[in-house]
Amino acid sequence: MPRRPPSARALAVQVLRQIDQRRGFSNRILAEHLAGSELARRDRGLVTALVYGVLRHRGRLDALIDRVATRPAGLRGRTRELLRVAVFELRELGHPPHAAISEATRLCRELEGGGGLAAATQAILSTIASEGEALDAALADGRPLDVLERRWSIPRWLGGRWIKRLGPERALARGRVLAEAPPVEVRVDLGRTSAAEVAAELRARDPAASVEVIDGQPQALRIRGGGDPSRLPGFDAGLFSVQALGSQQPARMLGPRPGERILDACAGMGTKTLQIAELMGRRGLLVAADLSAARVAEHAAIRRRGGLEVEGFELRSVVGDLCEATIAGVDEDAPFDGVLVDAPCTGLGDIARHPELRWTRTYDDIGERAALQRRLLEASWPRVRAGGRLVYAVCSLEPEEGEALVAAFVRERGLRVAEEATWTPEEHGCDGFYLARIEGGS
Ligand SMILES: C[S@@+](CC[C@H](N)C(=O)[O-])C[C@H]1O[C@@H](n2cnc3c(N)ncnc32)[C@H](O)[C@@H]1O
Repeated sequence: MPRRPPSARALAVQVLRQIDQRRGFSNRILAEHLAGSELARRDRGLVTALVYGVLRHRGRLDALIDRVATRPAGLRGRTRELLRVAVFELRELGHPPHAAISEATRLCRELEGGGGLAAATQAILSTIASEGEALDAALADGRPLDVLERRWSIPRWLGGRWIKRLGPERALARGRVLAEAPPVEVRVDLGRTSAAEVAAELRARDPAASVEVIDGQPQALRIRGGGDPSRLPGFDAGLFSVQALGSQQPARMLGPRPGERILDACAGMGTKTLQIAELMGRRGLLVAADLSAARVAEHAAIRRRGGLEVEGFELRSVVGDLCEATIAGVDEDAPFDGVLVDAPCTGLGDIARHPELRWTRTYDDIGERAALQRRLLEASWPRVRAGGRLVYAVCSLEPEEGEALVAAFVRERGLRVAEEATWTPEEHGCDGFYLARIEGGS
């Protein structure tokens, strides 16, 4: 008999197991599994919602399961994962209890064979279905470190750091915001259109979506409840790009001007590269370098969408290690007016969009990343011309990767921080970003 393809819930369990075992990025592992699946579009959406939701709420889901299970330690591996999926459906998606419980029990029987686990699964889920409200309320009550861990799914090592640095109230507020599914944010190319025009296009296509302008951010729109904006014609024409609000700030702080020579030193797939090109009015030289050839290959997409093949503008995409004395394609004798170092980081400021980082990052990663960031900063500064500026940015709010690192760097070199900003989930409702503009000493 041909094997039945996995249901959306079974696929979500497989993906979650893989993320845990490979300690990999959720978007990549999810995409791999969805590419090979025969699921309908609606079910693919459900798999994505289950995977991201479970990762975002894992600490809380485990706390609920552990409170009602007779032998919580026996619920491991796939059984634990499918319980998390079902509890997430009950508590966050509001799925009818009978559907979530019977599917989880059936899956448990299928994956683990007969025996006690399926019966335990059914019993645990039935209790959570009827007492979930009170159980959740109990998780929100207690010492801040416990609440962060059990209600807002922030690992203890990270929660402890936040409480010490920010105080309990702000740490709890951060945890609460990061547990929510983030909105989609887009950046509009103000040289070619306006946020109002893009908002009108978005609303016309998707009347159910809420499209908001953001105070003080004329280039940004925040969308909730709509479809995928990259399917709209304006996206293909480069009139707007999908980019989180915090991530929109480094290029704005760099302030590239038409005709300048700019280096985007850790360009990745080029999200900020395109933003810089737009701010330069597509005039001047923009060198976009990255260590990863695969990411640099993606620059073809921004060239096409952004209309970057124009006279008077050169986008030079190069693969190279910034820490090397020379990079092919970068004339080291002609330093840049501005350099952006969007450094590789722990990503701990953006765990709403990358929720697996809650569980895959460790305390040691902060020090390891900070050492690399320091090397990248040291290697980048000599590439700035006298009187020029460098913007350093990370999507982490841990001070070792941000303000402490920059303060030590400028102190040792006799430089100055001309501008510094921290975008936080609790204050700005966005991805967390630290950024600083460094200039020569006075
Ligand atoms: C935070 S990501 C950059 C994201 C990108 N700026 C964007 O807006 O999409 C950091 C990038 O630094 C690159 N990187 C890491 N070490 C590097 C090095 N030694 N030299 C150049 N790039 C490096 C990584 O490949 C990664 O793409």
